[in-house]
Amino acid sequence: MNTVVLGLQWGDEGKGKAIDYLAGSFSVVVRFQGGHNAGHTVYYQGKKVVLHVLPSGIFYPDCSAVIANGVVVQPLQLVEEIQNSRALGLELHNLALSESAPLILPFHQQLDVVFEDSRYQRIGTTRRGIGPAYEDVVGRRALFVNDLLREDVFRAKIAPLAEYYQRLFSAHGHPAANLDEAIDHYLQAGAFLKPFVCNTTRLLQQALAAKKDILFEGAQGTLLDINLGTYPFVTSSNTTIAGVFSGTGLSAKAVERVIGISKAYTTRVGEGPFPSELTGASGQKLRERGKEYGATTGRPRRVGWLDLVALKYAVQVNGVDSLFLTKLDVLDGMAEIQVVTAYEGAGGTSAEFSPHADALSQVRPVYRTLPGWESKLGAVERFRDLPKQVHAYLNFIEDFVGIGVSHVSLGGERRQTIEIGV
Ligand code: IMP
Repeated sequence: MNTVVLGLQWGDEGKGKAIDYLAGSFSVVVRFQGGHNAGHTVYYQGKKVVLHVLPSGIFYPDCSAVIANGVVVQPLQLVEEIQNSRALGLELHNLALSESAPLILPFHQQLDVVFEDSRYQRIGTTRRGIGPAYEDVVGRRALFVNDLLREDVFRAKIAPLAEYYQRLFSAHGHPAANLDEAIDHYLQAGAFLKPFVCNTTRLLQQALAAKKDILFEGAQGTLLDINLGTYPFVTSSNTTIAGVFSGTGLSAKAVERVIGISKAYTTRVGEGPFPSELTGASGQKLRERGKEYGATTGRPRRVGWLDLVALKYAVQVNGVDSLFLTKLDVLDGMAEIQVVTAYEGAGGTSAEFSPHADALSQVRPVYRTLPGWESKLGAVERFRDLPKQVHAYLNFIEDFVGIGVSHVSLGGERRQTIEIGV
């Protein structure tokens, strides 16, 4: 069944683990948006592996792993990730890279850093050049993977763009960088990547026609969506269901199921409103228990209680069919667990979610307190063996957001996952 897996919060929901768990039953796994700002953590043969652009399908030799046209690609980083994966013994025969994926170029990363360090409003980006690369797509200046495959084409196209950026940097008081070396490295990366490059839209359409099961692997989370997230504290792509279609060339009819991933609590990296944030000692405790440090940047994540108002919004905008709830074990031993059920603002109490940062930063959360559980969940294998307080917690979430929980994750390992019929 063609399935989209999406993060329902501000990223870092445990999509890597969830997708790795699900990927085994699919013939194709495809990344459709974002870039190497993502960090999907999976455990492979007992080793922790963090994937940034490679789809989680690479761990299954019979599964095609596709980087589709919606993903922004930094070629040097992709080469490194492929080489690291080969060092783990993965052949990557089944990797396909879209010829139409936009490139992240050296000046994009530089601009991301310049903006972050100087702009009137810091976003707290991953400083990987993601935003500026997508800006060039919208500005109709972008270069694509295909352009990298022919030296004359690449040199001819990058020269005017480099000049455009040099002017921008000098206006900000930054010295002109010599790009000659970087261009050579990009061309070498292009030669390395060439065997993987193809028309992924055609490949996916053929897979669809052949009735192969496709898993669409979302990156970041719904509340970071450029159009539907907590703007301006968002990433620069459609992290919601909308990104699947523009990012692959498949139609909405290709999607048969949407699984939404949420932690049993909430985290966020970077700036922006976070109504249920826990600061001080309780926040620190949750951060340590959940090992909440960024997979890509190592930054400590901000942490807080599960926000059901935000979760319901994410379920609705994506048409989520079922929830995959991760890191439930992190709440082990807590006497009480809180969830947000409404917001208080100037206009009174409401359970409506207004994503724009200006609106969201004005609200105060209204909590419902639920009983915690004493026991450790990590070794529980069957749904019925979970403590009754866990059942109550899951039921409360299901009733509030209006869909069922299909999976719970109780630790980092693939086997620490319980599938629940919904
Ligand atoms: P950018 O995507 O690097 O432009 O960063 C924009 C915002 O998205 C920042 O708040 C980042 O911390 C956040 N972000 C980007 N990628 C991820 C991710 O994979 N997980 C969590 N947050 C992310």
